[in-house]
Amino acid sequence: MAADDRFTQDFRETGEDEVLGTRSEIITGPVSDWATDFSHLEPEWSADPYPIQDDLRQRCPIAHTRRFGGAWLPTRYKDVAAIAYDTERFSSRSIILSNFRPPRELAPIGGSPPISSDPPFHHDARKLLLPAFTKKAVGKQEPATRAFCHSLIDGFEERDVVDAAYDYAQHIPMRVIADMLGFPPEDGPQFREFVEDLLEGINLPPDERIERVSRLFDYLLAQVHDHLDNPRADLTTYLINAELYGHRLDPSHVVGTMALLLIAGIDTSWSAIGASLWHLAKTPADRGRLATDPGLVPTAVEEFLRAYAPVTMARLVKEDMHWHGADMKADDWILLSFPAANRDPAQFGRAGEVVIDREVNRHAAFGLGIHRCVGSHLARMELRVALEVWLARIPEFTLADPAAVTWSAGQIRGPRTLPLRIR
Ligand code: HEM
Repeated sequence: MAADDRFTQDFRETGEDEVLGTRSEIITGPVSDWATDFSHLEPEWSADPYPIQDDLRQRCPIAHTRRFGGAWLPTRYKDVAAIAYDTERFSSRSIILSNFRPPRELAPIGGSPPISSDPPFHHDARKLLLPAFTKKAVGKQEPATRAFCHSLIDGFEERDVVDAAYDYAQHIPMRVIADMLGFPPEDGPQFREFVEDLLEGINLPPDERIERVSRLFDYLLAQVHDHLDNPRADLTTYLINAELYGHRLDPSHVVGTMALLLIAGIDTSWSAIGASLWHLAKTPADRGRLATDPGLVPTAVEEFLRAYAPVTMARLVKEDMHWHGADMKADDWILLSFPAANRDPAQFGRAGEVVIDREVNRHAAFGLGIHRCVGSHLARMELRVALEVWLARIPEFTLADPAAVTWSAGQIRGPRTLPLRIR
């Protein structure tokens, strides 16, 4: 292939402020009142956010904090849905809440299209990705995913206790997305660092944050060059050659979308698989029922997604406004809690319970509106296959040490240490 000079100059040669935008004072430490000082980075939230969200829904359904330079937290389904659908008043130009406001000029494309894009650009950037993630396309990944799950369990050998988050859940989406993007499968452990750097390092000083984000982009750029030298049938080559409005994509679009697929594809499914196994380990009745009736797994998967929805996204308020009783200022953050929406009793019967044969389940775990998850078929396949294989091979398991279970901090929530006794 002829040299593609889009990728030869450093297209990321921008100043720190251009990348990060305006900064706000960093406020950390214990929360005084969740209605007026919430922080999704506090250990109390990552350990168990649901009682906090239930309490807020009752007494202050749109909570506020001065942290992160000002942010709002809606906990009712109807408010979360209204914001997700209202792209006129709420921007996606950054969907990870932090102490930095990305520059307004980033809209409507943002750093990682289409998730960071606003209309009208969003529609076209999203359309590029859809063919790779149809149910049919995803079905082709299923045999390899199933075989990989078996190989992970083979690797447990004679151990009595395994870490289901570390030894099992994390590897499944890492392998699947590495295959789809055409990255070396052995690079998986590096992906974990990229995910943690991006999603959990949001209170870090700017230099450190930039350096960490650069590591991911250096890796992705190296993959682009490898694909330019050795084109192959995968998503990376597809993005390099894709066109919008008669031109090949801007290099920052190519790499930004690769970053999105890597991050969105890994942490999310890893969290959902882990949370489902955590639930089954502590709920023998559900575990026994699914082990004897695997046909129920797809329905149970929907309920695990509803009850333990791993993904919370952010929006930025476009202009000052009075919104449903809240005095929102331009550039205030919204922490768009799909998990809280999924447990709103006004929307779901028995909202706080896990009902693995729930019949009607129109949950919001994959988001609502134009940004609804492109990878939902893939995620459902990964989750279903991961549970089917685990339950067939290890029908009986319990929490080895409930106190040793840890959960990730930040906007993607799932178990990161999950010791299970498997014999
Ligand atoms: C259980 C696993 C997953 C969950 C719960 C989940 C959840 C979500 C949510 C809530 C959104 C909406 C974002 C917003 O409103 O700002 C979203 C968007 C997206 N997700 Fe997922 N996701 C999962 C897995 C995946 C996977 C495996 C991929 C692909 C590799 C993926 C790719 C995307 C993309 C590309 C978008 C952006 C869509 C757009 O902006 O139009 N996700 N996801």
